[in-house]
Amino acid sequence: MSMPVPQVVEVFAPAKINLTLHVTGQRPDGYHLLDSLVAFADVGDVLRLEPADVWQMKTVGPEAEAVPDGAENLVLKAAALLDGAPKAAFTLTKNLPVASGIGGGSADAAAAFRGLCAATPHHDPNNIDTQRRLLSLGADIPMCLHCVTARITGIGEEITPVAQFPALHAVLINPRVAVSTPAVFKAMKQRNNPPMPDIPPESCDVKDLVEWLRAQRNDMQEAATTLEPAIATVQAALEGHRACQLARMSGSGATCFGLFHTAQAAQQAARDLSRDYPQWWIRPTQLGSQAERAVPRLS
Ligand code: C5P
Repeated sequence: MSMPVPQVVEVFAPAKINLTLHVTGQRPDGYHLLDSLVAFADVGDVLRLEPADVWQMKTVGPEAEAVPDGAENLVLKAAALLDGAPKAAFTLTKNLPVASGIGGGSADAAAAFRGLCAATPHHDPNNIDTQRRLLSLGADIPMCLHCVTARITGIGEEITPVAQFPALHAVLINPRVAVSTPAVFKAMKQRNNPPMPDIPPESCDVKDLVEWLRAQRNDMQEAATTLEPAIATVQAALEGHRACQLARMSGSGATCFGLFHTAQAAQQAARDLSRDYPQWWIRPTQLGSQAERAVPRLS
């Protein structure tokens, strides 16, 4: 029988944003091949692990009602995949809307894995077998284990970190509609799209990077918008804001991001748009500098 985790651990599970998302093909097993530039936000869920004799799970926070807190939760499913994992009572503070294209469930599962590894150093977070099993639980989990700006290929398991990526100021908006990822893949008309061109060199400034992003795509956006027209309203609201440089959907939606020159401009836009659309989930954020906060804090 495994022991309790020896100490309390708190792990930040940041939102994942697909700055680009090119769908380049489909495998014989139905999974889609992706080519995506992913960055992590400074908004996210928080997972706390406390010593316990049996697995326990509770969810708290503004989005807790939408997630199961029993064995169905990805946190417990991920923990069960780790051979001989120490027992913990998990408290998940759910801040991210579910089924929203920003990796919430995968971020939580990855946080559980990172937390258990941090609490018990003999568990290797880079164990390939475990990572493979986690991939079968969610294609976004491997990238959420790393939490660094990266180019993602394969079905989500090939991760190439992008060095010295500039921090981007953004506003995230979810119109409060849950989107089913398989439904969006199914509704796509074209699955063999061109890959993403090479990302500009490290020295690239933000203005050039935004221009480069403008020329890229989210190949799921059209299909997702057909299923959920509210995505078009969000896209138009962001594009209509005077300070927004670029707006696009993340993942399979419905969350969209808008990019802004400065943190102040993003904060002002979040205030303006919250006033116009009080029913939406709207957060100003910084993308691309989260790796440090994702490292578990031991207390
Ligand atoms: O993120 P997750 O692995 O849970 O994906 C949910 C579903 O989306 C998968 O079961 C699969 O149908 C589809 N998917 C896909 N190609 C990917 C990722 C997900 O077809 N690369």
